[in-house]
Amino acid sequence: MSYLSDKLLVTGYLILLLSGTANAADNAATTEASVNSDAAPLLDVYKSPSCGCCQKWIDHAEHAGFEITAHNTNSLSQMKTESGILPQYQSCHTGISKDGFVFEGHIPAGIVQRFLANPPGGAIGLAAPGMPMGSPGMEMGNRRDDYDVLLLNSDGSSTIYAQIIAAK
Ligand code: CU
Ligand code: CU
Repeated sequence: MSYLSDKLLVTGYLILLLSGTANAADNAATTEASVNSDAAPLLDVYKSPSCGCCQKWIDHAEHAGFEITAHNTNSLSQMKTESGILPQYQSCHTGISKDGFVFEGHIPAGIVQRFLANPPGGAIGLAAPGMPMGSPGMEMGNRRDDYDVLLLNSDGSSTIYAQIIAAK
């Protein structure tokens, strides 16, 4: 099932949510959970000291209500590997929630919130591999790539969690 949610809109994009919502009751539960939670979701974000787009993504997530602790490190790839993020899923920064879920790269913050409100079974987190143009923190004028947010499973496989499609 897929649907569009105002809350999750990113300027210039349509978002199709593809998994994690089996039925309408689930959708209602998710919405209620995110509306009623007053605690700011916490994320530790690991990034290289020199990365500008990482800082811009952090600004985006803070604006969306996350409380971020940023950590600069020069051994990011080791840290990603240890967190179960295979090379094909990797981007620049890695966010880790207090429950240990990973959020790799320039994922729209609203999609991270949706995942945290209702984490699918067997998932370790989400990833937006690479550096899609136009994703949060990667704004480049009117250049907007279509990209997918992947659901990472604990066995190393992935499925598409959301398709982010540039509005024409
Ligand atoms: Cu980046
Ligand atoms: Cu980054």
